[in-house]
Amino acid sequence: MRLVAITVLLVLGGCSRNPSVLLDHAGPHAAWTGWLFWVFFVVTAVVWTVVLAMLGLALTRGHSRSRLGLPPEMTPASDRRLGAWVATGVALSVLILTGLVGASYAVDRELIGLDRNTSRSIEITARQWWWEIRYLDGDPNNQFTTANELHVAVGERVKLSLKSNDVIHSLWLPNIAGKRDIIPGQENSLVIRVDRAGTWNGRCSEFCGYQHAFMGLTLIAQPPDEFQAWLATQRQPAPEPAGEEEKRGMQVFLTGPCAMCHNIRGSGTGYSSYAPDLTHLKSRSSIAAGAAPNTKGHLGGWIIDPHGLKPGVHMPVNLQNAGDFQALLAYLESLR
Ligand code: CUA
Repeated sequence: MRLVAITVLLVLGGCSRNPSVLLDHAGPHAAWTGWLFWVFFVVTAVVWTVVLAMLGLALTRGHSRSRLGLPPEMTPASDRRLGAWVATGVALSVLILTGLVGASYAVDRELIGLDRNTSRSIEITARQWWWEIRYLDGDPNNQFTTANELHVAVGERVKLSLKSNDVIHSLWLPNIAGKRDIIPGQENSLVIRVDRAGTWNGRCSEFCGYQHAFMGLTLIAQPPDEFQAWLATQRQPAPEPAGEEEKRGMQVFLTGPCAMCHNIRGSGTGYSSYAPDLTHLKSRSSIAAGAAPNTKGHLGGWIIDPHGLKPGVHMPVNLQNAGDFQALLAYLESLR
């Protein structure tokens, strides 16, 4: 009973509503790699089973002479049989390994073919410990920067240009494509295509310092018209502060330490990419690269004590009087 319970628990442990695994693929890159996984899995499972079965057979069907402690009798016929078995084993191994190398090569060719004809370029700069995301456009007026949340249109081939200014990071979107290292001083790229609308988890998969574990990226694939609407909103500058409190909050933001690192387009900040762009902060689902949900309470806690949530983060502690703090929060909450 205990064994059954443990087995059931282990099997159910793999269940999840939104598993971040290659096998739940949402694009052709991950689909091809998933296919390769199954080829390897089936072939190696068959080989493993056959080898163990033969070993079991050899152990149970011991030679009558060896039971008497005598060496096996070698005749020309048994010699030939042994030779044939060894030759078959070597030939099968070579055949299987060549087949697997061939399958890997074929998948590689398919993946390279998928990387052509991209229709959009997005620049992603990995930082300790968040993602700066810049939507490039032929018209500079249409370019904008956001953070930690990557939006794409379903079915569109997107080229991600990957950069780093500090240490080595690595981008991994398990349901979409394989990992790609991001190395300072070198631009790598990754082409993705997402075929199902949905929200997918991404991670930094190269140890990059204290908060490596909290360097999450959210990928949101939207139907094309929804994506265009999102683009249009993001291109806009931040909304004007509406009431007195929001106006006061904007002044707190601009005259305090916030504006030294963060940018809010349309508010009069300079351009700084040292910290996430906050122009449309409230359009995002989480703060601090996925470390907390984007609610007023979490945002307030993050401003006052960022190190309580992400020790070692570059954001300093910000203490204001209660009125200024509430006004600042009201202003940030208005950045939709
Ligand atoms: Cu960036 Cu780990």
